[in-house]
Amino acid sequence: MNRAGEKQMPYYRVVGDVPRKRHVQFRRPDGGLYAEELMGEEGFSSDSSLLYHRHLPTAIIKAEPVEPFAGSVLTPNLPLSPRHFRTQDLPSGGDLVTGRGLLAGNADVRMSYVATEAPSELYRNSMGDECVYIASGRVVFESTYGAMEAAEGDYVVVPTGTIHRWVPDGRVTAFVIEAAGHIRPPKRYLSKYGQFLEHAPYCERDLRSPQETLVVEGEEVPVLVRTRGGLTRLVYRNHPFDVVGWDGCLYPYAFNINDFEPIVKGIHAPPPVHQTFEGPNFVICSFCPRPLDFHPEAVPIPYNHHNVDSDELMFYAGGDYSARKGSGIDVGSISLHPAGFTHGPQPGAVEAVIEAVRQGHTRTNELAVMVDTFRPLDLGPAALSVEDPAYAWTWAR
Ligand SMILES: [Fe+2]
Repeated sequence: MNRAGEKQMPYYRVVGDVPRKRHVQFRRPDGGLYAEELMGEEGFSSDSSLLYHRHLPTAIIKAEPVEPFAGSVLTPNLPLSPRHFRTQDLPSGGDLVTGRGLLAGNADVRMSYVATEAPSELYRNSMGDECVYIASGRVVFESTYGAMEAAEGDYVVVPTGTIHRWVPDGRVTAFVIEAAGHIRPPKRYLSKYGQFLEHAPYCERDLRSPQETLVVEGEEVPVLVRTRGGLTRLVYRNHPFDVVGWDGCLYPYAFNINDFEPIVKGIHAPPPVHQTFEGPNFVICSFCPRPLDFHPEAVPIPYNHHNVDSDELMFYAGGDYSARKGSGIDVGSISLHPAGFTHGPQPGAVEAVIEAVRQGHTRTNELAVMVDTFRPLDLGPAALSVEDPAYAWTWAR
């Protein structure tokens, strides 16, 4: 969990022009002062970055009400059931912010799916961090920190309050994880001062962030702001992307799932070896292509398990997933295995994979993103609109 004051990822970066010392006079070529903006987490007690704007980042000239996004109502998972949702059947529409179809959520996290070609307007989520997994396509992420490209397989982690927008290059699909708090690398992979340790499945070199600022000039720029109270469109007097430089340890970054170095064992290892990020009361795991468990008598797919404190939601992002053979699950599918239900490989999958190994099969080609939550997940309207009602009974075959 993220506790106030704990350092989690203090990887310092500096981009553009900053003065030699913090909070000293820093002047534009015309002699005027640049305006500081400190973006900081946990009340000046955790990571932060200091941004230098050409204009005041405080100057708003209008606040307009915005209707809540349609389809934001959640329904309890009753009667309790394992579920299969086919995001590949969801329609395209909206943009990477407004086009999100709500799949599942609780008080800690909400997950949605979006397919779009349209650029979003400027957006600030003040409720928590977002982790946007790009399932297909290419997109440019623009922000006060600068721009970076993202493409298939990238997790883009956007800190709370970052003003940004998404500009797709063609059609993009994404699985979006919105936290009610901060999303960070697992603490056990970090030194006490926050550097990635040698046993971590990825490290600082795998994280990409903006390399230069955008320095956009503009006036009367609307920004869609999301708070716990709802949505507002704040109109800024000057473009928020007018930053000439920033430094610090808090910034948006991208991490590609293919840079996750899988941890393998002789016998089957449980999902914590796949953990990639942690958030408040949930974890994000990456299941990547890797050698199968190599003990000569291994059962190289999961054992039946009842993770009594968790709901397990899995987005099948690519490859093929031998534990789910015969279930109807395909690329783009989402499975939900809730607390209260014991799950494991689909019936017959254990025997099939043991036979495949006997015939020389040595690797698994699966690619999936899993979110395990420590509170039950309610179901969103987008998920319910593409549910495969036969899935629950594939467990009884
Ligand atoms: Fe599981």
